[in-house]
Amino acid sequence: MPTGVRVAGLMRAPAPLISAASSFFFLFFLLSSSCIIVVFSVSDAETLLQFKRSLTSATALNNWKPSVPPCEHHKSNWAGVLCLNGHVRGLRLENMGLKGEVDMNSLVSLTRLRTLSFMNNTLVGSWPPVISKLGSLRSVYLSYNHFSGEIPDDAFTGLWS
Ligand SMILES: *[C@@H]1O[C@H](CO)[C@@H](O)[C@H](O)[C@H]1NC(C)=O
Repeated sequence: MPTGVRVAGLMRAPAPLISAASSFFFLFFLLSSSCIIVVFSVSDAETLLQFKRSLTSATALNNWKPSVPPCEHHKSNWAGVLCLNGHVRGLRLENMGLKGEVDMNSLVSLTRLRTLSFMNNTLVGSWPPVISKLGSLRSVYLSYNHFSGEIPDDAFTGLWS
């Protein structure tokens, strides 16, 4: 009888080891996959700061700082940024004395962007083809700037709204 107990005890022993090892690997997998997500998803803040860096004059955007999130629920902390549920839903950068050639490509990761207004600044450049990649976009206001060239026929191809 005591022998049987000892055998059963010995046979049972490896089980916790195996589950400990598998939970370790599971944890490792979880951690490494979350690292991958962190590395590849660019935050709204980083996207907007990259956009700001493309301007040669942007003093009106002085409160765009990495230390403060652009959006907290519906509240916006950054000048001209419109927020919805903690995400950027629009940029209303009107009458701000902004200068330079805007890097629209930097805005592609703002997937919830619905409205863009750059009215009455001193922005230059031609129609950015990337507009058609901003899938949620509904309105774009560009008047009273120094933009040049033509708006291509397929400028709005690919926009659903
Ligand atoms: C355009 O913006 C400037 C500031 O950069 C402002 O003084 C001016 O009143 C604006 N013009 C219009 C028509 O809103």
